[in-house]
Amino acid sequence: MASSSVSLFLVGFLIFAQEVFAEMPDSDGIPLEMEKEELLGIFEVMDALLEDSEWAQEHPQPCTETPWPGVQCEIGDEDPPMFHVTKIHIGSDILSPPCKSSATLSESLLKLPYLRTLSIFSCFATSPVTLSPNLFGAFSSLDHLALVSNPTLTGEIPQSLAQISSLRVLSLSQNNLQGKIPSKIGSLVSLEQLDFSYNNLSGQIPEEIGGLESLTILDLSWNAFEGQLPYSLGELQLIQKIDLSSNRLTGRLPPEIGKLNRLVLLDLSHNLINGPIPETLSGLEHLEYLVADTNPFNTEVPNFVGKLMNLKTLSFSECGLIGPLPNSLSSLKNLTALSLNNNSLTGTVPPNLGTLPSLDLLNLSNNQLTGELALPEDFVERLGKRLVLRGNNGLCTSNPLYKKDNISTNVITPWCLNPRGTKTDKTLAGEHPTESERVKPLDQNPIQKRSSAGSPWSNEKLNSFGFVLCFLSLLL
Ligand SMILES: *[C@@H]1O[C@H](CO)[C@@H](O)[C@H](O)[C@H]1NC(C)=O
Ligand SMILES: *[C@@H]1O[C@H](CO)[C@@H](O)[C@H](O)[C@H]1NC(C)=O
Ligand SMILES: *[C@@H]1O[C@H](CO)[C@@H](O)[C@H](O)[C@H]1NC(C)=O
Ligand SMILES: *[C@@H]1O[C@H](CO)[C@@H](O)[C@H](O)[C@H]1NC(C)=O
Ligand SMILES: *[C@@H]1O[C@H](CO)[C@@H](O)[C@H](O)[C@H]1NC(C)=O
Repeated sequence: MASSSVSLFLVGFLIFAQEVFAEMPDSDGIPLEMEKEELLGIFEVMDALLEDSEWAQEHPQPCTETPWPGVQCEIGDEDPPMFHVTKIHIGSDILSPPCKSSATLSESLLKLPYLRTLSIFSCFATSPVTLSPNLFGAFSSLDHLALVSNPTLTGEIPQSLAQISSLRVLSLSQNNLQGKIPSKIGSLVSLEQLDFSYNNLSGQIPEEIGGLESLTILDLSWNAFEGQLPYSLGELQLIQKIDLSSNRLTGRLPPEIGKLNRLVLLDLSHNLINGPIPETLSGLEHLEYLVADTNPFNTEVPNFVGKLMNLKTLSFSECGLIGPLPNSLSSLKNLTALSLNNNSLTGTVPPNLGTLPSLDLLNLSNNQLTGELALPEDFVERLGKRLVLRGNNGLCTSNPLYKKDNISTNVITPWCLNPRGTKTDKTLAGEHPTESERVKPLDQNPIQKRSSAGSPWSNEKLNSFGFVLCFLSLLL
């Protein structure tokens, strides 16, 4: 069995080898593998990158006899057929000699007209390298350009990059690029993935970005982009992931974003975006991750979030949110993480949040929520420390469950008090609060705080008012 497959393989190889080599004799009858100009091109490109100055001697026929893992070749369809370099990959993941400290991108790349993939990871790290406009243009066949994690790759992204009409993947992430996104970028109609994250790019996101009609992933995070989000984002009909986090974007979200009905992830966190949040966002029917932490939205949690049925993560920490938690949140059956901490939310914690079957993190800490906690017991036990409610001085409990060691609310949520200042009847015998615990709600309950001297309300009346509030919220 084994030997027959080996001989089959050999026969296959011989047929392949005959086809490849038989048709390519040069005038001397020696198999010709590459055009001289292209061979020279790959030698010069590698020489400009690698420490190993012997690369050309060690790999005189990089497409056949002396291959190198980072270079791939394919046979062209010309007559006679020839080998062409189609892929160059430099990175620490392959057994390659390191890049030299003076590594550069040689203009000899232009001698490799069949190159479709150029990827260079963690190479330019000591002397500054810029992207020469001459390297790119309509003549290029690149479909995959990834220059990633090169700390000394600096300067601007040349406009000529936008002329590579075959480009499908463009990743210039984790470099030190500056300046604006080329306005001509919109002409890359085949581009599926655009990643400029972790650079020092600035200026506005150009309106022309709407021309990228094949785009599925847009990552511009961790730069210094400013101004409003372009309305044209709404034209990216195939887009699935948009990450614009950690920039200086301002203004309101354009309502057009609601047209992106394939969008799965939208991350806007750490910007300066204002509210209100346009209601059209309810059209994002495939949205699973909506993350917008640390933005001055200063608005209410919109009721329409309840329509985003596929939502798994909803995170609006530190967004100046006001008003109550909408009841519609309880229709998000796939929700696993809800973080609305560090806002100014008021009202009670809706008990039906605890009926969401997948919810595994609920962070409502540092708000102004009030009333008695009435989340279902199984939910409280399931979440344990992932139920975070501290920093809401108006919350209280009459259920000893909230006081267990492995529940994060244990020390911070005071007992709800009945009119005589003792615990309500839900408390089990033997779990009496200490005197200091009993004092806490008096200090922390905002209703109590209002009972300053001069108030016509007596302390006892206020206590019973607080109790009735707790009791009512328990019923709801
Ligand atoms: C980022 O670019 C700005 C100019 O646009 C410059 O002042 C700043 O020093 C750059 N920051 C880094 C970390 O290179
Ligand atoms: C929730 O998740 C399940 C399983 O991941 C998926 O089949 C379903 O379409 C999702 N959406 C809703 C609304 O349940
Ligand atoms: C939330 O507020 C707390 C207390 O003010 C602060 O320590 C924390 O860094 C804030 N966290 C976020 C994510 O905003
Ligand atoms: C909840 O929010 C607080 C306040 O920002 C933060 O310190 C804490 O890490 C968060 N906890 C979880 C589990 O997300
Ligand atoms: C907390 O402890 C109780 C038993 O005291 C247990 O039933 C529950 O599963 C624990 N919860 C977590 C989140 O560990």
